[in-house]
Amino acid sequence: MGLLGIIGGSGFASLPDTEIVDRHWVDTSYGAPSAELLTLRHAGQELRFLPRHGAEHSIPPHAINYRANVQALCDSGVTEVIALGAVGGIAEDCGPLRLCVPDQLIDYTWGRASTYFDGADGDVVHLDFSAPFSALLRSRLLVAGEALGLRLRDGGTYGVTQGPRLETAGEIRRLERDGCDLVGMTAMPEAVLARERGLSYALLAFVVNWAAGKSAGEVGMDEIRANLARCRDQVRRLLLAALAGG
Ligand code: HPA
Repeated sequence: MGLLGIIGGSGFASLPDTEIVDRHWVDTSYGAPSAELLTLRHAGQELRFLPRHGAEHSIPPHAINYRANVQALCDSGVTEVIALGAVGGIAEDCGPLRLCVPDQLIDYTWGRASTYFDGADGDVVHLDFSAPFSALLRSRLLVAGEALGLRLRDGGTYGVTQGPRLETAGEIRRLERDGCDLVGMTAMPEAVLARERGLSYALLAFVVNWAAGKSAGEVGMDEIRANLARCRDQVRRLLLAALAGG
């Protein structure tokens, strides 16, 4: 069994109900990760945890050092990564509070350092990325969800936007035409960097708002914050169950 790393997103600076056994800054050849790397223990099992927006949620999606984050996890022995992501819902059955385990993504981001294979060593590498998420890790999340009686959506396409602003209604219509069910800002380049480093990677997305134009009025930050808080307990229970099922 591999060592699990969790990349926490909005609303998750650590994982409640776990013991923090170690915390320290890791230096990588790509710079410093977003925060101290935590080693957590739950029911006799250890895991690592890294909050991608920093311990105080101060790093916006486009400014995250994704390469340092994935490298720090990799260097610490992590072999599989479950990433958390608060998202907007586009598909009809992806309303607020829905938990989803997407199986595809479309990358709309730009200007982010998005590869370790930048040609500096004289090698050109083209990696297969047909299935961006690990089928095994996805199924571990889905099985854990089923055991807990949670209604997880199995599959879906996550569109990754640049942020930090939310999208226009027109942009969301375009994403919908492209086949996106969810929209968030952080799954890329995180997912491809994990692939480049040989880590299994899956994403647990939780919907905190209807995407722009999908409900009457504006997307409200109060609503997003409230729904984040409402999702926390289910997400925590699911992660601990997935850890036990590893
Ligand atoms: N768009 C992009 N990212 C998000 C959203 C959204 O509506 N909600 C939470 N993260």
